Amino acid sequence: MRKIVAANWKMNKDIKESFEFTDTLVKNLLNIKQTEVILCPPYTSLFYISELLKTGPVALGAQNMHFEKSGAFTGEISGSMLKSSNCELVILGHSERRHVFNESDKTIKKKIDEALAIGLKPIICVGEKIEERKAEKTSQVIENQYNAAFAGLTEEQTSKCIIAYEPVWAIGTGLTATPEQASEAHSLIRNLVKQQYNENIANNMPILYGGSVKANNAEELINTKHIDGFLVGGASLKVESFTEIIQIVENK
Ligand code: 13P
Repeated sequence: MRKIVAANWKMNKDIKESFEFTDTLVKNLLNIKQTEVILCPPYTSLFYISELLKTGPVALGAQNMHFEKSGAFTGEISGSMLKSSNCELVILGHSERRHVFNESDKTIKKKIDEALAIGLKPIICVGEKIEERKAEKTSQVIENQYNAAFAGLTEEQTSKCIIAYEPVWAIGTGLTATPEQASEAHSLIRNLVKQQYNENIANNMPILYGGSVKANNAEELINTKHIDGFLVGGASLKVESFTEIIQIVENK
């Protein structure tokens, strides 16, 4: 299984900061052979840093997009705009989009379909809130989010997707899912893929963990069954800590 480390910078870094980070990262990663690295900066930095990524192992992703192709949607960005900024991937269904911006499963599904239709690879996020975990609804929440996202997708479309399990209570809180909690959720997700498609598609689906991943917990987590990499927020903002996480995954 390929290993992936993705950075979600959220609303951080202007163009100059993005450029300096990326310039250093690319130099730091010269010996990285096995791990796929993805940078998801703010929209404004996408095209600018893509110039630095042309020859290296790092792919470019966006943090969101609109599901329509164009039109009167003030402040929105279309998939084709992302593609013309040299993006290959797009994060969809992030918990901040779901819970801060009230995006529904239905909206997220439209975005996934549009991303796939125009040739962007979606990084589809799922995960439960703390009250849902306490009420023992974690599996149900993940299953509902998975079903809404993958409804009607062909095997070929699904093989272009990456799934990120991000328990909402672990995001930006310093609380990390234990390896057991993460493994349970990841194995549930892999089973959902297997039920809908087959073992081969399920075994090849990268399932990333996100939620307070740091250099000091990355090793334990990457050695956990069914964790194929990370979607990193806070620790991806410093090039030293992000490089360290990539090295840990590479050396696994
Ligand atoms: P933190 O790593 O800051 O918890 O954020 C995780 C996340 O939301 C990545 O998408």
